[in-house]
Amino acid sequence: MALKPLIAANWKMNGNRELVSTVTEAVASLSSAVDVLVCPPATLLPAFKVQRNFALGGQDVSAAQAGAYTGQLSVALLKEASASYCLVGHSERRQYQFESDSLIAQKVAAAIAGGITPVLCIGETLAERQQEKTEQVLAKQLAAVYASQPELLSKSVIAYEPIWAIGTGESATPEQAQLTHAFIRAELSRYDAEAATQLRILYGGSVNAANSAALFAQPDINGALVGGASLKPDEFVQICLSAK
Ligand code: G3H
Repeated sequence: MALKPLIAANWKMNGNRELVSTVTEAVASLSSAVDVLVCPPATLLPAFKVQRNFALGGQDVSAAQAGAYTGQLSVALLKEASASYCLVGHSERRQYQFESDSLIAQKVAAAIAGGITPVLCIGETLAERQQEKTEQVLAKQLAAVYASQPELLSKSVIAYEPIWAIGTGESATPEQAQLTHAFIRAELSRYDAEAATQLRILYGGSVNAANSAALFAQPDINGALVGGASLKPDEFVQICLSAK
């Protein structure tokens, strides 16, 4: 993990102002050796103090800049709420909001055009892994965004999240994850070889304080996108500490 690690918390539809306070306090002791990102529900973004040693992010962003898009949040609105990152294409949005690869590509472009860093989430289902289609699925998800917009790669973060590992307690093994991360980096080098070497590729899927160090010891794992364990401030700090 030669690149500076990024540990991102995705609270999903969880949390409250009390968690904002406890996480802010818990993370305050961390050094700057690790970049930390917290993506709470958007309504909680303003509850975070201006003075903090971590970045904030949205869990989604609109592809549109403004206008009649009920329920959506633009890049400008996220920035006004102090977000400097946003998740894009999380598998739960692909599944429940039927987000397509082409919409996700537009969102990545909109985020970068507006000055925030997208964390593009990709991953395969259990059935796809069992049918040995993992690489094919990931290549398609990446091509949809970067084949026609390779200039976006140098301003992106990728999160590889095998869907079968999300919220199941069954993380990919470090070896499985490393193989897939190496594939992702090699695939992206076709679009921009230099950017691919500098790109942070996060692993997500049942990361916890017991398995994080072994994952972070892999050369192509540059951090994590943490769901359930990010709601436990002490455990989240342990995960961050294990990334140094
Ligand atoms: O965004 C986070 C991922 O979906 C992982 O969630 O850590 O609860 O498995 P999890």
